[in-house]
Amino acid sequence: MAATVTSPTVSALVDPALHADGDPHELWRWMREFAPVHRHEAGELPAFWSLTRYEDIRAVYRDPATYSSARGVLLRPARLGDDPGGGLTLALSDPPRHKQLRSLMADWFSTRSVRALEDTVRDATRRVLARAVERGVCDFVQDIAGPLSLSVICGIIGVPGRDHDTVYRWCEEAFAAHTSLAAHPQLMEYLMELLYARMAEPADDLLSSLVNGTVHGELLPEHEILLNCENLIGATENGRLALIGGMLAFLQHPGQWRRLAADRALLPGTVEEILRHTSSATHSMRTATRPHTLRGRRIEEGDRVVLWLPSANRDEAVFNDPYRFDIARRPNRHIALASGEHFCIGSTLARAEMRILFSELLDSGCSVEQAGPVTRVRSIAVNGPAALPVRLTPKRRMP
Ligand code: HEM
Repeated sequence: MAATVTSPTVSALVDPALHADGDPHELWRWMREFAPVHRHEAGELPAFWSLTRYEDIRAVYRDPATYSSARGVLLRPARLGDDPGGGLTLALSDPPRHKQLRSLMADWFSTRSVRALEDTVRDATRRVLARAVERGVCDFVQDIAGPLSLSVICGIIGVPGRDHDTVYRWCEEAFAAHTSLAAHPQLMEYLMELLYARMAEPADDLLSSLVNGTVHGELLPEHEILLNCENLIGATENGRLALIGGMLAFLQHPGQWRRLAADRALLPGTVEEILRHTSSATHSMRTATRPHTLRGRRIEEGDRVVLWLPSANRDEAVFNDPYRFDIARRPNRHIALASGEHFCIGSTLARAEMRILFSELLDSGCSVEQAGPVTRVRSIAVNGPAALPVRLTPKRRMP
């Protein structure tokens, strides 16, 4: 393989078609071995460096002084300039501001808070599963994982339950158009009204924590609160892709599903293996704050450095038999949820949603079969199924 993959193929890494219709893993495998720090020249995207080895990616995540998040954490076309959320949202802030902003939201995602939410998540899961069983054939994306993960984050932010379906529809429109949620006028207008309502009368929700919290002794301006809410909602696309990717992995490896059914103690490890194997966040980006050398390549101040997470999570230097989906894998120190300061704030919640969904599916006694072709998300930022038709059949009761 090494002889057949040449530099022109490496440029395919930023073609969404490779991620939707092809297999970027072959390319990443080659890059880990032969070009672990690879320079991509400017095209529609600005020039950037690609990192593909676990060790290098983890080191970048853990060095925010050299690798800044404030100019954006995702590649975007040069003509669009830097991300407008730069320096304002949690993901796009550097220390010390990042720590203060994170502390305003951290309580809502702590182990204690997520545990308190579990019954609500379980009820919501049972509802979507019951509806799916009634339908027979459904789309695991639109009918199960999508509404479930969105309604959970809406509940945390403070969106009333009666509006969850509408907010879900707006988010779907934005995801389908590959635009940011901030570009959806109705969604932003809705969040703005909710923000004014919480300013007038705070409630027990994350939005109220942002309205009343301070960073460096100052209240957050309204547009920063909105951008942070929008980012939190957008981030759940990863959560739902982990649920969907997990379902697909089980459909492709039915032996692993039977194994889990026979031994529920494997569930926590299963969740980690789904996160590693599916790695639904495809890349993170950082900007170098000083010139330095990485594996012999000179990185200049202002250079963009892109971390390909699915590649790190299949690095043969770290994982035995890395392409295998093995729910009993030990150890499994994947970095699907990043590492260091920006470690995913929603990690405990995402893990709980996965545990609850798969255990409820097993408890329901339903059999799940694929009922049509899978299409994949056309993106270089996130990956996984965009549509996954399934048939949920309740087990026949014995007369
Ligand atoms: C309930 C679902 C989720 C929510 C609400 C959520 C939210 C967030 C937020 C707000 C951040 C920024 C944290 C910070 O900068 O301090 C973040 C970071 C991150 N999350 Fe999540 N997330 C969720 C699920 C996931 C899942 C399932 C994955 C991957 C499988 C994931 C991968 C990441 C990664 C890689 C980062 C680091 C981004 C960067 O700094 O470049 N997230 N998440």
